[in-house]
Amino acid sequence: MNTSNPKKPVLVWDFPVRVFHWLLVISFAGAWFTSEGESQQMVHYAFGYSACALVLFRVIWGMVGTRYARFTEFIKGPTETLHHLKSLFTGNQHLGLGHNPVGALVMISLMILILLIGLTGYWSVKEYLGEYMTGAHEAISSLALGFVAIHVAAAIIMSFLQKENLVKSMITGTKQGAPEQAIRYPMYLVGLSLVIAWAYSFYLVVNGSLQGLTQ
Ligand code: HEM
Ligand code: HEM
Repeated sequence: MNTSNPKKPVLVWDFPVRVFHWLLVISFAGAWFTSEGESQQMVHYAFGYSACALVLFRVIWGMVGTRYARFTEFIKGPTETLHHLKSLFTGNQHLGLGHNPVGALVMISLMILILLIGLTGYWSVKEYLGEYMTGAHEAISSLALGFVAIHVAAAIIMSFLQKENLVKSMITGTKQGAPEQAIRYPMYLVGLSLVIAWAYSFYLVVNGSLQGLTQ
């Protein structure tokens, strides 16, 4: 370790990114556990649509958010992604504090799959293409669950390889780094607004106010 520049916890994930992540976990799990049985149908739709709304927010935040939240920071070309994949085997670690390019691919795939689940769910409600659409909805949901399993396993394995608890970082927002690597503002107000918007959209769907989406 470089003793002249000791590493300290620095803020990497702003508050909106962390709120987005854990609300997405709640929404996905909620939709999954309410997917069977008529009595829970509206709750299923509410969790599902609020997951999609979170992803749409994240797309915007990926363009205007803080340094490590931006897509340009972690979506890399094939050369850099392959290089990272190789480095996992040779032991040369990814040096940046943000998402690594391979993990980012899984995370982006998850976000796209969630939007597709929402779209096929909506079309199922509209009875567009009948059983076929519900089948597609279920199949994409199972695929997404597979990606979640890979993602969680990768977060745990990478935590051991990098000797840093990445799951804890997604809660506290901090990682070990040099002071100049930190983001400046946690953006609490944006995160708080996201919690309120998520709860409100959940409420609107669950009580049937958005009939165009649920009937
Ligand atoms: C992350 C979001 C979602 C997940 C993980 C998910 C998952 C699932 C799963 C696994 C089923 C199959 C249940 C079974 O075995 O019968 C299902 C059914 C269904 N989902 Fe979703 N879903 C999500 C979002 C949505 C959304 C946004 C809608 C739109 C309104 C929706 C509408 C439906 C409908 C209509 C069914 C068929 C229910 C039936 O069998 O009659 N889902 N969902
Ligand atoms: C439905 C389940 C989940 C989904 C859809 C999901 C999705 C995502 C997405 C989209 C990101 C990127 C965050 C961003 O830049 O905004 C992310 C990051 C992350 N997720 Fe999840 N996640 C899920 C569950 C979990 C769980 C259960 C854990 C912990 C055990 C976890 C740990 C992490 C960590 C540590 C990161 C940051 C990785 C890094 O340091 O680069 N995720 N996840």
